[in-house]
Amino acid sequence: MAKGTWTVIGAFTGLAAAALVAVAVAAEKPADIRKNVDDPTSPAWCGQCHKRIYKEWSSSMMGRDLDNAIVYQFYTATNPKGKFDGLGFKGFVRMAGHPQARGDCADCHVPIQVIESHKAGKGDVDLGKAMRLETRKDHGISCIFCHSIEKVHLKKGPDGRWNKRIFERVELNTEVIHGPYPPAETSPHDPFKVSPLYRSSEICGVCHLNQEKHVLSISTYADWKALYDAGKTDKTCQECHMPLIPGKARAAEDAPEREGLRRHTFVGARDADMRKKALRLELKGHVENGRLIVDTVVENVGAAHTVPASAPIRNVILKIDATDENGQPLPWAGGKKGLLPPLAGMGNPKTGQKGPGDWAGLPGKMYAKVYRSKVIPKLGRPMVGVGGFAAVAEVFNTLLRYKKPDHAQFAFKVPDGVKRVKVKARLVYRWAYKPLADRKGWKVPDLPMTEKEIALNVTP
Ligand code: HEC
Ligand code: HEC
Ligand code: HEC
Ligand code: HEC
Ligand code: HEC
Repeated sequence: MAKGTWTVIGAFTGLAAAALVAVAVAAEKPADIRKNVDDPTSPAWCGQCHKRIYKEWSSSMMGRDLDNAIVYQFYTATNPKGKFDGLGFKGFVRMAGHPQARGDCADCHVPIQVIESHKAGKGDVDLGKAMRLETRKDHGISCIFCHSIEKVHLKKGPDGRWNKRIFERVELNTEVIHGPYPPAETSPHDPFKVSPLYRSSEICGVCHLNQEKHVLSISTYADWKALYDAGKTDKTCQECHMPLIPGKARAAEDAPEREGLRRHTFVGARDADMRKKALRLELKGHVENGRLIVDTVVENVGAAHTVPASAPIRNVILKIDATDENGQPLPWAGGKKGLLPPLAGMGNPKTGQKGPGDWAGLPGKMYAKVYRSKVIPKLGRPMVGVGGFAAVAEVFNTLLRYKKPDHAQFAFKVPDGVKRVKVKARLVYRWAYKPLADRKGWKVPDLPMTEKEIALNVTP
């Protein structure tokens, strides 16, 4: 159909046309098993009674994990168009000569499927296959997984490495629902088990701790535990990430009102309030000998683990803009240390053309834990900013530790005749390094955290 004709029909038939398209698409797309209310292991089944909780979980990153295109593409090493680009787990194992390897990627993304597959002697699960709608067999980070956990074993071996696999870390009993308190009489759950695990961070540590061969690529639980054991925080993961519902609420439609219930929203770095709470920013400046000296302090005051919370492709950037009274940028007069590294964005990988988010070489500081791979024969050098599976060493680690202020200094030249200067400092969160995102075709917006501005008169 010609485009013009379509527009006219669309204009006249409006909703009816939209409905037809929707039906056609629905018929092609297999149903999402997580929405099957007849399957007593599906979140939607629990959601019939636990309506609020189901809605909260569905909106969370963990509830949406199986639909997360970034996870899928980083596992399968494909781009958004579905073409193999080598960037990701499957590219790494292909290069290492084991193209069929599935690795442990599925462990924390489809935990029940992995545990059952290993119990049946079938070995590792292909995360790509487990995520695709047509081959999906598991509900991901589901109600039934978390509420079947009977025991957690998180242990460090004599070599200083944590036990690794999901089936070593949890014991499940899917016949029994487990929860934080004894349920009301209206509860259909019989048997039911009250367990202190649900109020403890260990249950989160099952996955928020990724031991790779050479590095602890996700260390959130270990970082938190060190602070907790030292008495530097008394808060659990749940107390910060499952917000308390003020007043009374119900855990199910047919349940009594209770106080002290928490939301299953698992708010994290994608939540503006969480980002605002995390960091304190101090900004000072003075002019001496024709130079503007800017001093910053960035302190993690809100997150009882590092910021960012250690997933290796995440980064927080402090960007410093110093301008004269006409908005002209002041020339840089500091050393290389005060400039942002290539991972802050180098521009279009083919044309080199820079966009507004390409900050490499501009004044600022990156807070991240950056890994490098082995030397890649084709490139003749290692890749920098890789995921934990490809990491052999740390390039730098500037993660912001809890209550450990980070001081930085930046210097600019103040040209003759300039009477007033302005400095803007901002902290933004990026969930992947910009060069990786550019090569993958991912859109990684700058998520604002905190900012400060000052203005100074230049006295001759
Ligand atoms: C031990 C548990 C565990 C294992 C094993 C694991 N992951 Fe994850 N993965 C996580 C957790 C937890 C997060 C969220 C981390 C965060 O935000 O700090 C995550 C996040 C991710 C993300 C980022 C998603 C986004 O939206 O930015 C990608 C991509 C990913 N994982 C891919 C993989 C791949 C590929 C493998 C195998 C090489 C793997 N994971 C193995 C626990 C795990
Ligand atoms: C990542 C693990 C996890 C997932 C997934 C999860 N829960 Fe929970 N759930 C918890 C924890 C932890 C608590 C205890 C919170 C607290 O401290 O009160 C809890 C508490 C509960 C409670 C007790 C009442 C309350 O609100 O505290 C109910 C009911 C419940 N969950 C149902 C569900 C349902 C239904 C789903 C799926 C839609 C689900 N949970 C998914 C971890 C999980
Ligand atoms: C037929 C309705 C119904 C279905 C379906 C249902 N629940 Fe419940 N559930 C309840 C009621 C009612 C309670 C009691 C809530 C209370 O005491 O506040 C309850 C309590 C709970 C609690 C305990 C709160 C506590 O610690 O006492 C958890 C956890 C829980 N359900 C999880 C689930 C999970 C997971 C599923 C799906 C596998 C599910 N429920 C399916 C009705 C249901
Ligand atoms: C079965 C493994 C598993 C368990 C158990 C688990 N998580 Fe997660 N969590 C993940 C994975 C995987 C992701 C990344 C999801 C994605 O981005 O697609 C994630 C993401 C998150 C995020 C979102 C981060 C962001 O960037 O917004 C928060 C917050 C979080 N988890 C907190 C918790 C808390 C609190 C608990 C304990 C109550 C917990 N998780 C238990 C696997 C797990
Ligand atoms: C004192 C409050 C607090 C406690 C306790 C806490 N967090 Fe956080 N967490 C935060 C704040 C604030 C952020 C947002 C800043 C950020 O993204 O780093 C955050 C971010 C995260 C993220 C987002 C990922 C990222 O890249 O930053 C994950 C995942 C997470 N926390 C998991 C956990 C887990 C698991 C625990 C327990 C072992 C935990 N948190 C304990 C406050 C807390």
